[in-house]
Amino acid sequence: RTVAVVLAGGIGVRVGLGIPKQLIKIAGKAIVEHTLETLDAHPLIDEVIIMMNAGSLSELDHLLSGRFRKLTRVLPGGETRNDTTQLAIAAIEGDDTKVLFHDAVRPFIDDRIIRDCVDALDTYDAVDTAIPSADTIIQVDDARHITGIPDRSTLRRGQTPQAFRLGTIRRAYEIAAGDLSFRATDDCGVVFQYLPETPIYVVDGTPENMKVTEPIDVHIADKIFQLQSASLALDTRTDQLPDFAGRTVVVFGGS
Ligand code: CTP
Repeated sequence: RTVAVVLAGGIGVRVGLGIPKQLIKIAGKAIVEHTLETLDAHPLIDEVIIMMNAGSLSELDHLLSGRFRKLTRVLPGGETRNDTTQLAIAAIEGDDTKVLFHDAVRPFIDDRIIRDCVDALDTYDAVDTAIPSADTIIQVDDARHITGIPDRSTLRRGQTPQAFRLGTIRRAYEIAAGDLSFRATDDCGVVFQYLPETPIYVVDGTPENMKVTEPIDVHIADKIFQLQSASLALDTRTDQLPDFAGRTVVVFGGS
């Protein structure tokens, strides 16, 4: 059995629009609706659970209105992202269950990424999604001096989904609970730190699978939706291409 957990427990302070960023509408729908559509429709996913910011549960109910066939539960998230993950773990059963944790605010997750994560769990107990870094990544100290420049070819930028056999991620968090200095920003980090003998396999993400984090990302996400609908239209009518404002432009020279 495979369960997708949509992490929507945050409020989006950095985007700063006064509503949780997962509820911002882009291309006619809330960001979290786009994310849910792809997960809910995927043939390898059996069940979807959303962990929602507790203050916005009723707004989300209103949006969903029974539209998603595999969505079984909408539960309140926790104080931090890791707290939210742990609440989800507590709500799911079976050590062998495959669980994919995905950020609600990565609406461009695609079918191939989901399939690669689910398939990799046949071989591995922990799986991450990542892309190469175009930028050189530097390490700095408090005095803003460079302390290291790791070889870029060995670096990746982590995305989600992060996928696990439930027993593995549960065990990692149980061990982390005994560590007073526990700190992590994702879930693979918890396995990496507390179950170091567990290999974590990395599947390819995509540049589009960005996390809406800063105000500029809302505009970038909007543009990606426009480009995606333009290329869909191109597939069906090769002589016409909608421009970015949604109008239709005839491409001269088309047959
Ligand atoms: N998240 C969560 N529970 C939390 C905090 C974050 O489920 N307590 C989710 C967010 O809703 C988001 C994902 O984790 O889908 C990635 O986190 P991030 O981009 O940091 O989201 P926010 O915490 O909402 O953003 P900010 O730090 O700007 O407030």
